[in-house]
Amino acid sequence: MASIALFFSLLTSLLFTSSMAIASYNQNPTSFIRSSCGRTLYPGLCYASLRPFAARVGTDSVLLSRFAMNVTASRLKPLSDKIFSLHHRASLPPSSSGGIVTSAIKDCDGLISDASDLVKKSEKELAGLEEMVGREVTWRISNAQTWLSAAITDEGTCSDEFGNGGGEEFERVRKKVKRAEQLTSNALALVNCLVN
Ligand SMILES: *[C@@H]1O[C@H](CO)[C@@H](O)[C@H](O)[C@H]1NC(C)=O
Repeated sequence: MASIALFFSLLTSLLFTSSMAIASYNQNPTSFIRSSCGRTLYPGLCYASLRPFAARVGTDSVLLSRFAMNVTASRLKPLSDKIFSLHHRASLPPSSSGGIVTSAIKDCDGLISDASDLVKKSEKELAGLEEMVGREVTWRISNAQTWLSAAITDEGTCSDEFGNGGGEEFERVRKKVKRAEQLTSNALALVNCLVN
C-alpha cells in the first residue's frame, strides 16, 4: 500500500512538474502577440492594436484572430457611418474632381458597409472553434478566410476610387479606409496562421 501511495505521489509531482515546464516554455501574452504579429504585413500596427487585449487573449491564437477582427470591425463601423452621411449629404463640396469623388463616395458607401458585415461575420464564424473537430474546423476557417479576403477587396476598391481628389475631408476618409484595409489584412494573416 505504502509503495502504491508513493507511486501516486511521485506521479502527481511528475505531472505537476511537466505542466510547469510547459507553462514556462509557453510565451507570455505580450510576446505571443508580438511574435504572431510578426507574421502579418503590418506588424507594428498589429501589435499596437492587439496589445491592449493581452490579458484576455492569453496565448490563444484563435482568440487573437477574433480580437483582430473585432478591432477591424470597430474601425469599419464608424467609417461606414461617416461615408453613409457623406453620400446622403445634400450636396458634396465643389472640387476640381467633384464628379469622381461623388461616385467614389457612392460606391464606397456600399463597399465599406459590406466589408464591415464580412468582418463581423468572420469573427462569429470562429467563435467556439476550440470545441469543434475535423471538417467543421477547416470549413469555418476557410469561410473566414474567404470573407476577410472579400472585405480587403472591397476596401481596396473603395480607396482606389478616391484617387487624390476631393480635398481634406475626403483625404481623411481615404486614409481611414487604407488603415482599415491594413487591419483586415492583419486579421486575415492571423487566421491563416491557424491552419499553417
Ligand atoms: C467581438 O464582438 C462581438 C460583438 O460585439 C462579441 O459578441 C464578441 O464576443 C467579441 N469577440 C471577442 C473575442 O471579444
